Amino acid sequence: MTGFVIAVDGPAASGKGTVSSMLGRLYDYPVLDTGLLYRAVGVAVQSAGGNLDDAEQAAKAAAALNLNDLEDPALRTREAGECASRVAVHGPVRQALLDFQRRFAAREPGAVIDGRDIGTVIAPDAPAKLFVTATPQVRAHRRWLQLHKQDAAITYDDVLADIRVRDERDSGRAASPLVRADDAVLLDTSEMTIDQAADAARRIVEAARGRWEQSQPG
Ligand code: DC
Repeated sequence: MTGFVIAVDGPAASGKGTVSSMLGRLYDYPVLDTGLLYRAVGVAVQSAGGNLDDAEQAAKAAAALNLNDLEDPALRTREAGECASRVAVHGPVRQALLDFQRRFAAREPGAVIDGRDIGTVIAPDAPAKLFVTATPQVRAHRRWLQLHKQDAAITYDDVLADIRVRDERDSGRAASPLVRADDAVLLDTSEMTIDQAADAARRIVEAARGRWEQSQPG
């Protein structure tokens, strides 16, 4: 029997992090926010004075990453998100982070993983897949509410512009772009409160779990 993997993909500030944490608590599964891996690589390259657009440098940083240290608050900033999106376009960076993510996905009795390519590349056989999204305006507003606590000078328009650039880069890149897997259930949270989104996600995953349990031998 393989574990019950829950793959949660979607663009920045779609609510996928909140949904993933809730699902992790519900099933008592570990949760991996894979955006933090790319953020850690981007921040490592940047703070070493390197070039984010150089695939080789970024892949070296990815290979040297201490994957146990993803708690650093510096990874949560707006700049870290931008650095992450830039290093995430490089195939060799994605390759360097692949094994760690696949091993996490293989954990028993199950795991929740969120990112951009979980249902398509990291765990294509995951029995539960969600694609969480919302309009760019709603996502920008949510992200602005978080970010302006760290930096009062950030405006909504700045955040919306960032989100548009990131969406385009994350969806347009050749290496594992952000796309909905054919078998992922779409969850548009634009008109939902956090509780409504969590509830909708729980129902989708419970239905997938019912099907998965029936398919298990013995
Ligand atoms: O989810 P996030 O905002 O923390 O992700 C930061 C960036 O990392 C995002 O713009 C694209 C990249 N990323 C990725 O390419 N693949 C993933 N599985 C997760 C994040």
